[in-house]
Amino acid sequence: MHTDRFKVTGGQKLSGQVRVSGSKNATLPIIAAALLTDEPVTLTNVPDIADIYTMQHILKFLGVESDFDGSTMKIHAHAIANVEVEHELVSKLRASILLLAPLLVRNTEVRLAFPGGCVIGKRPVDAHLSAFEALGAEVLDDKELLHIKVDKLAGKDFTMTEASVTGTENAVMAAVLAEGKTTIRLAASEPHVQDMCHFLNSMGAKIEGIGTHTLEITGVKKLHGTEYRVTSDYIEAGTLVLAAAITGGDVEVLDVVPHHLDIFWQKLREVGVHFELGESSVRVLPSKDLKPIRLQTAVFPSFPTDMQAPFMTLLTQANGKSFIFETLFEGRLQYLYELEKMGLDFKLINPYQAEVCGPTTFKGREVQSCDLRAGAAVVLAALAAEGETIIDNIYYIDRGYEKLDQKLNSLGAKIERIK
Ligand code: EPZ
Repeated sequence: MHTDRFKVTGGQKLSGQVRVSGSKNATLPIIAAALLTDEPVTLTNVPDIADIYTMQHILKFLGVESDFDGSTMKIHAHAIANVEVEHELVSKLRASILLLAPLLVRNTEVRLAFPGGCVIGKRPVDAHLSAFEALGAEVLDDKELLHIKVDKLAGKDFTMTEASVTGTENAVMAAVLAEGKTTIRLAASEPHVQDMCHFLNSMGAKIEGIGTHTLEITGVKKLHGTEYRVTSDYIEAGTLVLAAAITGGDVEVLDVVPHHLDIFWQKLREVGVHFELGESSVRVLPSKDLKPIRLQTAVFPSFPTDMQAPFMTLLTQANGKSFIFETLFEGRLQYLYELEKMGLDFKLINPYQAEVCGPTTFKGREVQSCDLRAGAAVVLAALAAEGETIIDNIYYIDRGYEKLDQKLNSLGAKIERIK
């Protein structure tokens, strides 16, 4: 883990235009889905972030060559050499769990060391395993590693054990080439799940109900190569909007898909942030006298857990007490302790609920970023803080945000990257 740090000088009102990059959480499952065909696949609008390079490294290990120039990625999985993906590789990226389906489909067997990634609470894999079993696979081991075999994947009408994002993505990847029809109930419907389904349909898959919690899939014999533009990252879009709002700035954010963020716009209106939505952009206008609200995360289309920390950071500036109920993860309120170092007055009610008392005058301090989205939260607080803030281990931020410091600096922020 490299030990780059950010030195942020707070107090600048952001202004200007900034473009959102491609979605990390769409690119990762789409790279996995590209392995379902032996024909070449070209992906455009791929974000230039650490996780993509890690995924590329794992593909190489699987004997799949790929080429990535920081924006366009070419993948050609003639064959997949291994059925085992060892811990050293998997521990770098939780999303490597998405390799279960392509290895099972292409090689009828897979052994995958337990996934790693962010340390935000227990991350069950049973949603994935029960979906594979529904489609006819046999789970031989789920203790030390995930060992799954199948003779022939067969379509089935089944319900997920929970609306797991990557669990749904694995289920869809296994179903598109299974024999017959599959109905997946309680499917996750996040924008990145939708984007992976559109990608698979561009390869000849037959998926209906995209964007709903019930997916109807008709198995096909083969998938062909394709060229596909990855959708923009709605969490990055929201983070940039919040950076403009917390600094009282006037910023236009480009390449936004408005309907990926319906509940986010609704909550911004309740808080009193002024903004104008365009076809594929949003203009954030200077706002003050922000109102406190109650925020509760849940699966899409409810408020996204990945937006919780950045949004709560805006709420530290509201006049009064706001309340957060993070219903999905028990480890996603840790960033509040970092904001407390900068002056936040908050109360942790339990691992899922907290009260935040605003308005807060943040003072620059030395803080940590404890996971990807918590890192974004401390950056937002630093932008609004008086004085200088040093943010440690920004490796997490680089994992999921493409050049966040450069984008914010182009809007007038003062963020220095210290090696
Ligand atoms: C995906 O992780 C994302 N990763 C995460 O983004 C994101 O935080 C998460 O979905 C939730 O949206 C990728 O897409 C690569 P889950 P995943 O299985 O699939 C509980 C980031 O910041 N849960 O959907 O591993 C579940 O038990 C990363 O970019 C419910 O309680 O997540 C688990 O603890 C971090 N009820 C947690 O939520 C439900 O109905 C996430 O589950 C569904 C899930």
